[in-house]
Amino acid sequence: MKIDFQGRTVLVTGATRGMGKQFADDFAKLGADLILTGTDKNKIDTLNREAKSNKQSLHKYYAVDFTDAESTKKFIDAIGAYPKIDVCINNAGINRINFIDETLLTDWKDILSANLEAPFLITRAVSSLMKKNRYGRIVNIASIFGVISKAKRSVYSTTKFGLRGLTTTSAIELAPYNVLVNSVSPGFVLTELTKSILTEEEMKSLSSQVPIGRFAEPDEISRVVLFLASSLNTYLTGQNIVVDGGFVDV
Ligand SMILES: NC(=O)c1ccc[n+]([C@@H]2O[C@H](COP(=O)([O-])OP(=O)(O)OC[C@H]3O[C@@H](n4cnc5c(N)ncnc54)[C@H](OP(=O)(O)O)[C@@H]3O)[C@@H](O)[C@H]2O)c1
Repeated sequence: MKIDFQGRTVLVTGATRGMGKQFADDFAKLGADLILTGTDKNKIDTLNREAKSNKQSLHKYYAVDFTDAESTKKFIDAIGAYPKIDVCINNAGINRINFIDETLLTDWKDILSANLEAPFLITRAVSSLMKKNRYGRIVNIASIFGVISKAKRSVYSTTKFGLRGLTTTSAIELAPYNVLVNSVSPGFVLTELTKSILTEEEMKSLSSQVPIGRFAEPDEISRVVLFLASSLNTYLTGQNIVVDGGFVDV
């Protein structure tokens, strides 16, 4: 049994660092053609030049900011022009923590746009291609804070609970077309997002509360995502897979 993405076009949002970069690197190793995003135009230009010089002409990066409606629209138009997209990983996400009575409406709007509205718009665009081609795998990257919550995560949790709702309904609607939709809810993963939200002290204390005794590395989440996104997955849809070292069951 072998996971193989040869000939598959795979879209990963937020693929310039963290988990998204890990997913993109793993899909590339397994033969996928990639559509990837990041926010920094200069970095994206460099990545596209590198992909070209490495003869990876089937890997294309787009600069898109999902908090900006105009930028998101341009990206949605671009993906709508592809003849097929076989796999979509809605990974890009942001977090700005704050108590609910101190949360700014601008933060609410930005986090909702990036974490929930963009996955909705992308799912809407790719699902019509997938329905036409009678094949698709969509994986939405939610969070344990879409299953439980914690102080200062009201907006983030709202988006991640919402993403699970989007997953469930899309899975029901798209199953007859061989399009399977799931979410993965990572626990604490060692990425820049985590390091920007938690202090060293907090990371130490939280690690001791995870039954496995440590935070996850991005590749430990990637292996689960790869299975869900692959043609080995033929019957698992509408599920939320929690990958958290046992944390939420404690
Ligand atoms: N880290 C964790 O412990 C953890 C746990 C559970 C769930 N998650 C979820 O997993 C996903 C990935 O998290 P991560 O920790 O890997 O994140 P990360 O290291 O912060 O990387 C985020 C990625 O998203 C892109 N991005 C940032 N702001 C964006 C915006 N406004 N519009 C479009 N793209 C944007 C970044 O692009 P640039 O490089 O250009 O900034 C980058 O490629 C997120 O949805 C997050 O909520 C993370």
